[in-house]
Amino acid sequence: MRKVSLWLMIMLCGSLIWAQSEGSDEIGDDFYPGIGNGGYDVQHYDLDLEVDLSRGSINAVAQIGIIATQDLSAFNLDFNGFTIESVRIDGVEVDYRRAQAELTLIPNELIESEQTFEVTIAYQGIPPNSQNPTFAEGWVQYRRGIYVASEPAGARNWYPVNDHPLDKATYTIKITVPEPYVAASNGLLVDTQDHENDTRSYVWENFEPTASYLVTVQIAEFEMQSYYTEDGLLIRNFFPVDIAEDAEITFSQTDEMIAYFETVFGPYPFEVYGAVVVNTSLSFALETQTLSMFGRDIVVEQSGRRTGNQGIIAHELTHQWFGNSISPATWRDIWLNEGFATYGELLWVEHTLGVSDRDEMISNWYASLNTPDFIQSPIAAPGLPPGNEIYNLFNASVYLRGALTLHALRLNVGDAAFFRILRTYAARYAYGNATTEDFIQVAQEISGMNLQSFFQGWLYEKKLPPIPQMGL
Ligand code: ARG
Ligand code: ZN
Repeated sequence: MRKVSLWLMIMLCGSLIWAQSEGSDEIGDDFYPGIGNGGYDVQHYDLDLEVDLSRGSINAVAQIGIIATQDLSAFNLDFNGFTIESVRIDGVEVDYRRAQAELTLIPNELIESEQTFEVTIAYQGIPPNSQNPTFAEGWVQYRRGIYVASEPAGARNWYPVNDHPLDKATYTIKITVPEPYVAASNGLLVDTQDHENDTRSYVWENFEPTASYLVTVQIAEFEMQSYYTEDGLLIRNFFPVDIAEDAEITFSQTDEMIAYFETVFGPYPFEVYGAVVVNTSLSFALETQTLSMFGRDIVVEQSGRRTGNQGIIAHELTHQWFGNSISPATWRDIWLNEGFATYGELLWVEHTLGVSDRDEMISNWYASLNTPDFIQSPIAAPGLPPGNEIYNLFNASVYLRGALTLHALRLNVGDAAFFRILRTYAARYAYGNATTEDFIQVAQEISGMNLQSFFQGWLYEKKLPPIPQMGL
């Protein structure tokens, strides 16, 4: 009798521990609840994608190398849509559940903390439409090709992923497309394979830690142009064949821009760079890691909103340091991306057109924000973005007020300290994540000044602070 109840107790405890070791179904981003997952750390994604452009579908296998950070009786990946054909852990089929964008894997045996394991998921179907009403988020097929723009949380619309910038990983992406399409992605093209059915595979290797929203696939009839900068950095651009000559001119300042930004931000953080021009017009550009993407309009209309098309090119390049190498720790910290990249536009204006053009822009931006109903501050108090809508994550204040914050900081601490702050911040948090507090900390450390009330006013309060040095 006693023996039996002891045995029962052990069994109960055992199942209790088992039940308690489910990985969290979110990573803890209070600005964007529900995204990402807990209990593990992805090391590498190996994606094998066969793309059928006539059906608009993909046939894919994702192999994901993972390290457990706790005991796992179950854990989640973010994944939306598609038909799943099989789910394996270390080659053995396992049970899984799906609910909206959460895929829960149930290993046959408890995975122990620190254990390394591999998840293999075979899936196929037509990628789901973006859930975001304001811009495409995920995999998008257009008339002449396909682009992938996932910021902030659209990677789950095309592969199973821990969809949050806190869990960066490296990638191998193999994309098989019918000829004459070309498939581009992040990093280096390491192999191409021709198949008998007139399809070709492009194998891309991205060795640098990358946030899921910065991973891209680009398919169109592209011409690839590549060269080395004077410093030996490989540049490879993908331009639609019909506008390749004009695009080459549009992007001809890339090496000059990299050289200039290295003087203000420090060394370019990755092993390769380039641009891909999507063969349709877009209302945005995106800093997809090592291969920034732009709409066709940037070439054919030379369009660009704040600072012209060279300004947008400078913006996405600046993101390679601020956004990509250093990614936001939570989406609340988005101004660390957009404010900095927008300041990169102003720096390029200053470098090429001069200080008075730069100051004129700053005054105009200040005036546009300084209205009675201006949008709330970039980082703001706890809670969602303006209008209580996550879709307003990319509101104008994040870009313009974010950039003005940096310029006001520069005027306060002086040029020498300011650029030392940027370089120290870029180096200290390279390939990782940072919070707003981390940046404030670097600014105070390098300037030797107490900047608490300065940043309080610029980042956390609604009222736009003055810029007395500019009479604003
Ligand atoms: N980070 C981009 C930029 O400032 C905006 C991205 C919007 N997201 C998207 N999936 N289109 O250029
Ligand atoms: Zn941006």
